Amino acid sequence: MGIQITPSILNADLSRLADEVARIPSADWVHVDVMDNHFVPNLTLGLPVVEALVRHASQPIDAHLMIEDADRWAPAYAEAGCGSVTFHAEAARAPVRLAREIRAQGARASMALKPATPIEPYEALLAELDMVLVMTVEPGFGGQKFLDLCLPKIRTARELMRKHGVETWLQVDGGVSLETIERCAEAGADVFVAGSAVYSADDPDAMVAALRERAESVAG
Ligand code: DX5
Ligand code: ZN
Repeated sequence: MGIQITPSILNADLSRLADEVARIPSADWVHVDVMDNHFVPNLTLGLPVVEALVRHASQPIDAHLMIEDADRWAPAYAEAGCGSVTFHAEAARAPVRLAREIRAQGARASMALKPATPIEPYEALLAELDMVLVMTVEPGFGGQKFLDLCLPKIRTARELMRKHGVETWLQVDGGVSLETIERCAEAGADVFVAGSAVYSADDPDAMVAALRERAESVAG
């Protein structure tokens, strides 16, 4: 799998979700940020809206769950038809069991790490995961500044994946733009979430193409 661009609809016009998703036909996935006002200080949308998006989007849904009690709620997002379900390492009590449950429902299982959470303690879990998400801002809001301090973790995650010979995708989320995407790709990321960069552009789909081109120029 090469470079993939997964626009976040967090900064889109939430009253017109299906139309907003239709503006990014060349995106590989649609990234949907579920926030519960407990794990993060913000509240967005939940399962009924995600179910509606699964029915109406032409791309698969990449659900990013910023919620407490991920063990209880995450499998339902897989069952609802999301192509990928990401839970936070900090919110999962039994990440191995949870990843297996998500996979058993037919979705890709992914685990996210907040900026201060290291990857090393999770090395043995890599084979259980289809993707690792390294957050490059503190989760909760779109439009924040990219945190360069997360770049070494992206590198470490890529090295560990190579060491274990796994095909795990490596996603970055937060402050990804034309200015920062090259740094992420150089460090080893291959799946890129971009929210405000895409939806504040006059032509969101052209921005998806531009981001892809820039990341591919690094990945060679
Ligand atoms: C933040 C979310 C992101 C957010 C990214 O907690 O997980 O997906 O929408 O937005 P930008 O690209 O604007 O940082
Ligand atoms: Zn996200």
